[in-house]
Amino acid sequence: MSAAANPDRKPVSPRDRARPASGNVLSVASEAAPLIKTGGLADVVGALPAALAPLGWRLRTLLPAYPGLSAKLSDARQVWSDADLFGGPAQMLAGMVGDLDILLLDAPHLFDREGGIYGTPSGEDWPDNPARFAALSWAAARIAKDGLSDGWRPDLLHCHDWQSGFAPLWTRGSVPSVMTIHNIAFQGIAPASQLEALRLPPEGFTPDGYEYWGQISALKAGLIHADAITTVSPSYAAELTTPEFGFGLEGVIRGRADVLSGILNGIDDAVWNPAIDDQIPARYSAGDMEGKTLSAASLRTEFGLDPEGGPLFIVVSRLTRQKGLDLLLETIPGLVARGGQLAVLGSGEPDLQDGFLRAAKAHPGRVAVRIGYDEALSHRMFAGGDVVLVPSRFEPCGLTQIYGLAYGTLPLVARTGGLADTVIDANDAALRAGVATGLQFAPVTADALSLALRRASALYDQSAIWQRMVRRAMAHPVGWDASARNYAALYDRLTTG
Ligand code: ADP
Ligand code: GLC
Repeated sequence: MSAAANPDRKPVSPRDRARPASGNVLSVASEAAPLIKTGGLADVVGALPAALAPLGWRLRTLLPAYPGLSAKLSDARQVWSDADLFGGPAQMLAGMVGDLDILLLDAPHLFDREGGIYGTPSGEDWPDNPARFAALSWAAARIAKDGLSDGWRPDLLHCHDWQSGFAPLWTRGSVPSVMTIHNIAFQGIAPASQLEALRLPPEGFTPDGYEYWGQISALKAGLIHADAITTVSPSYAAELTTPEFGFGLEGVIRGRADVLSGILNGIDDAVWNPAIDDQIPARYSAGDMEGKTLSAASLRTEFGLDPEGGPLFIVVSRLTRQKGLDLLLETIPGLVARGGQLAVLGSGEPDLQDGFLRAAKAHPGRVAVRIGYDEALSHRMFAGGDVVLVPSRFEPCGLTQIYGLAYGTLPLVARTGGLADTVIDANDAALRAGVATGLQFAPVTADALSLALRRASALYDQSAIWQRMVRRAMAHPVGWDASARNYAALYDRLTTG
């Protein structure tokens, strides 16, 4: 019956419909800063709750209880348990870590072990990784469907990367879900023989389901069953549909293009902000750059680099093929010959570590390397550097180029993924329009990188132009505001049908 036919009934305006303008979200991941971090995934998962809270979305972040994590929870209490979670007893602990509302899956047989969170002390993946993270996904799905013993229940499930990939499969039809791809190179592949052990419905083991070339794929399960798929930049969203970047899942992604979107990462500007950063030698801002000069001098001393010279290029990165740092190794002699300096902080593939250590030996005072992971040192490097190098072969978003913008350490990046979306290349048009914030190069080859390094040195020598770019970079919006609104709009859409 139409409203006109019944004068007593007012037409229902879209605004009057019962709709939560806000709600509860269960965010599930294998890492979140400041609790546990191996890369940018942790920064993003750790930042989303604060970014979305002002928009009415309350996120609880579910992580495995790796060694030592439970002790960091304040007011820890048990909110769920399972006598047999993939081979052992498990409980869920709820508590706060700073402002973060955390749930820890305490399952000692899966997560309480010495070594890395993904692998053995010698660097091999844990052989039971599929079961460890299927268990995380299982617990997430149970909670999403049944709620916790404290009465909390999510309106939406937000899964990050393959480690939570099975959860949308187990919750489909009951709770709306979002699957976010931070890096499609990692897919959570397991042999078909584990089907039963992973508690997977056998009818889903088809090319339209979670089967991937005869094996089980956790990420594919998430991509097929989530109500929406996001990735961490618009350019990477487009790239994922191509064989070059889709790592075999491009067909699956293309099939779900109608629910795919790219939402750019922000950075936490309470942590990454040279005006308030207490981990750097001297604070500074675009209006007063004295602190950056002091930070540069201090960084040179700390790394044993010559006091004179420049520009000072920095790298803070996992040392892997993804990051294109083998290309940088090839260009070091040219960089040094032009008067440049290089400071590298990273760890990863042994041949890359050795390559940088050799370069440091070959160019004392000009190239210096720290192998390892050091959050505080990374702050000092962003403060003291002139240029941050990110020559990645693929980069879903990338955070270090954004830290570079915030610290006036101009990013020199490969034109790919989120790097292309966050840096404006100093080409003639951009310089004339006064919008350049860094340098981009393509294709991702040593020759193109070498050209870009030369361009950077030439621009650096034109101090007025360089300083203008630095100020513009520092004014570039890097926080979460715009992206948080995009996530909120997506959550809204999914929970109001
Ligand atoms: P990815 O997640 O692919 O490694 P991102 O650029 O998104 O790349 O994030 C990497 C994060 O890890 C940044 O916060 C960066 O500063 C940090 N990081 C990487 N390597 C190191 C290191 N050796 N020491 C300290 N921080 C590091
Ligand atoms: C992944 C990607 C990186 C991205 C990060 C956070 O680790 O490699 O590009 O910034 O996730 O989304």
